[in-house]
Amino acid sequence: MKITAILLAAGQGTRMKSNLPKVLHPIAGQPMIWHALQAIKDSTTEKPIVIVGYGAQKVTDFLGDSAQIVLQEHQLGTGHAVLQAETLLKGKSDYVVVCYADMPLLRAETLQQLVETQKSNKGVMSMLTVLSEDPRGFGRIVRQQGGTVQSIVEESAATPEQLKINELNVGAYCFNADWLWDALHRVQVSPKGEYFLTDTVELAVQAGLPVQATVMKDVLETIGVNTRVHLAEVETAMRVRINQMHMLSGVTIQDPSSTYIEASVLIGKDTVVMPNTYLHGKTVIGEGNIIGPNTIIRDTKIGNRCKVLMSVLDGALLEDEVDMGPFARLRKGAHLGNHVHVGNFGEVKDSHLADGVKMGHFSYIGNAEIGANTNIGAGTITCNYDGEAKHKTEIGEDVFIGSDTMLVAPLTIGSGARTGAGAVVNKNVAADTLVVGMPARAIKKLIRKAK
Ligand code: UD1
Ligand code: MG
Repeated sequence: MKITAILLAAGQGTRMKSNLPKVLHPIAGQPMIWHALQAIKDSTTEKPIVIVGYGAQKVTDFLGDSAQIVLQEHQLGTGHAVLQAETLLKGKSDYVVVCYADMPLLRAETLQQLVETQKSNKGVMSMLTVLSEDPRGFGRIVRQQGGTVQSIVEESAATPEQLKINELNVGAYCFNADWLWDALHRVQVSPKGEYFLTDTVELAVQAGLPVQATVMKDVLETIGVNTRVHLAEVETAMRVRINQMHMLSGVTIQDPSSTYIEASVLIGKDTVVMPNTYLHGKTVIGEGNIIGPNTIIRDTKIGNRCKVLMSVLDGALLEDEVDMGPFARLRKGAHLGNHVHVGNFGEVKDSHLADGVKMGHFSYIGNAEIGANTNIGAGTITCNYDGEAKHKTEIGEDVFIGSDTMLVAPLTIGSGARTGAGAVVNKNVAADTLVVGMPARAIKKLIRKAK
């Protein structure tokens, strides 16, 4: 049994008033269409087809090989959009699920139920509806006397009586494929100049083929994004859903309303996420950590039992029992070993701090390799950039870097060495050696570069 999804994403999304195609606007860190693709995975057996049009290149670039792409050159309506997939799909699928890419809250389970409904339907199509007092421009469901569906009337074509109907078309359908292609060729152009997919309902009913319409209970799931007001509604609903998923898997979120976790983030159990925390991108957090409050983490991997207080982390790796913050910053390539401590106003970039390194206050460590149990005194700076290139600092184990030391790279400091407070170190230091001093003095006349 082959089941293929067609996702409609060719519309401009005029009401978004944006240069970005509507389906690429992010929700919980992923483009709207990503969420739609996730939802259809479980109910289909084949690679989905996405109909692109407005901003086709950008949408195609995002999709990569996650979907088969079909171009709808002119956006002549949702019926016309589906028809563009005929050549690719005719005779190759038993069922076709059609959804709109602007409904990111629709759940996988809901679509699975939709497919199940159609499998047991004697007719040729099944669809989802919702009861709501706020019509949001959706198509209205006209039912026959006995309660079966008669047609979908688009708002632009509805009579005043029909406008009062509170059962709305969600915009997700499952068709018997063979019938669908034939029906789409028979859909007439609307007064708006568009071919409506929704007109297939009437064609089925006329042929005596019952249309199954399942009324959805969760109105939130049916939000279609047409404006940025809807976008914000969806963002909030998605955030609630993501936070609940983590809480139900054993993560404590002290204040879900101020906790922003993107869809791609993973968190282990017994981790506590404190208020006003943002977890972005490919962040993976282990078990038993305390994250936040007031923390922003992106594309970072954190082990177990770490404490990250009021800090900003981007592209970093923390092993176990790391303690950082408040006001610490890790940038790309920062790697903190077990039991490392980075205190207030510490910044680390492209550097490895081995197990047990302590860096309590006001320091910058860039392009450095620091051995186990070394102490970095307050105010230590790796002078890693000479205005043209970055240079490396290598510090051994059990080194004591005195407060306010300037480490002028490239530089190597042997294990067990010490530097005195205020030292400016520009020559390699042998193991177990104490170095001090080097006040600034004129050593040469500089020639300014022409601007
Ligand atoms: C559509 C439905 C309406 C339903 C509502 C739910 C039709 C005719 N109407 O209306 O009954 O209640 O969704 O949200 O189907 N698209 C294309 N090519 C086109 C036109 C649209 O790919 O030529 C895509 C859009 O990118 C969008 C989706 O189809 O993802 C729906 O189009 P949209 O203009 O948002 O339709 P609605 O007016 O919301
Ligand atoms: Mg819409």
